[in-house]
Amino acid sequence: MSAGIDLLSFYTSHYYLDLAALAAVRGIDPRKYTVGIGQARMAVLPPDEDVVTMAAAAALPIVRRVDPDDIELVLFATESAIDQSKAAGIFAHRLLGLPSRCRSVELKEACYSATAALQLAVAMVRGTRRKALILASDVARYELGILGEPTQGCGAIAMLVSDAPRLLAIDPESGLHTEDVMDFWRPNYRGEAVVDGKYSARVYLNALARTWEHYHAQTGRGFDDFHRFCYHVPFTRMAEQAQARLAKLCGREDLAADALAAQVADTLHYARATGNSYTASLYVGLASLLDHAPDDLAGRRIGLFSYGSGCSAEFFSAVVQPGYRAHLFTAQHRRMLAERTPLTYQQYEDIFHLPLPTDGRSLQIAQYRTGPFRLAGMSEHKRLYEHAA
Ligand code: HMG
Repeated sequence: MSAGIDLLSFYTSHYYLDLAALAAVRGIDPRKYTVGIGQARMAVLPPDEDVVTMAAAAALPIVRRVDPDDIELVLFATESAIDQSKAAGIFAHRLLGLPSRCRSVELKEACYSATAALQLAVAMVRGTRRKALILASDVARYELGILGEPTQGCGAIAMLVSDAPRLLAIDPESGLHTEDVMDFWRPNYRGEAVVDGKYSARVYLNALARTWEHYHAQTGRGFDDFHRFCYHVPFTRMAEQAQARLAKLCGREDLAADALAAQVADTLHYARATGNSYTASLYVGLASLLDHAPDDLAGRRIGLFSYGSGCSAEFFSAVVQPGYRAHLFTAQHRRMLAERTPLTYQQYEDIFHLPLPTDGRSLQIAQYRTGPFRLAGMSEHKRLYEHAA
């Protein structure tokens, strides 16, 4: 019995900062960003959008293609939570007009939790007609001027999970790794993450090795059993480094750096143009792969590595389904990215510093370019969402 990803949709902000503009202000050689970390632009979220509006925007094309009454579970994965009690998915559930006979919860473990959501959903739908909607949505935010700044970004993924998946059937085996480390975290009183950047990259690669060993022990599969690999992408060079590390672990040091980079290249187009999207990142990479791969991936096995700082990680795999291309949102994704508006450095910094009230007073937020939903304001500690005009 197969279960897996039936539909997959990606959404990001209509605004971005070109990293050449950031490099000029920071007095850094722009090639450090474009080549060294492999990023071109970072998506900047306007004040009238948040993780709810992004997630609902990602999900809308999916909800329009299925019977919403079949959706019995909404799992919202994020590390940019807007409330300590209420699940962000409940706001999205209303905006999307989903049925009230539905479960809705939020999950957290840095960038990893969307994968936990996917595995929980697969277990729930297997052998049934039930469907689950996974929303993964985040704003990656560091302090201005620190090394992590050019890896900021934002984005959301919506995935419909079903027992007859039209895109990818998830294999039952998983390699797992959890370890208490302080590589990246955000205490409740902070708006920006605290990060030990170089250490985080080492922990990421170590987690890749541990999860691969566990996965390999269960399946016996090796490097050449995968047609492509898809990684969590904090910045695109990290995925290329991960691919080189995995090849080494599997005894394929003979593969040239260019050949290894080519095996992940199609997964990186959207991340290079948007930056880190934390929980959504691995699945933004998957959408990029399905939208860009020139060869027919049907019947091919893809290796996926999910990493969340702190840390929890998983290596798993999936087989692309016949006819998958007919069920992609490729044109929509490309149009969204092509029609974005560049910001000046000053506009980026102004948006960065715009606060939302924390004392319950009312605020109406100016209208920016958004997707189908916007955060209209706040009143009495409540977020007020509306359909965008
Ligand atoms: P950095 O200052 O960019 O590091 O910070 P660097 O000085 O090592 O430079 C990076 C690369 O640029 C190097 O290449 C340089 O040689 C090269 P490499 O040795 O890696 O091949 N370089 C240049 N190339 C061309 N022209 C030049 C030039 N100058 C230098 N002129 C760091 C990198 C990762 C520390 C920083 O970006 C950071 O702190 N990022 C945030 C943390 C992060 O993304 N960690 C990744 C792993 S943890 C993770 O993925 C989880 C996360 O998503 C959070 C979550 O789970 O929720 C972050």
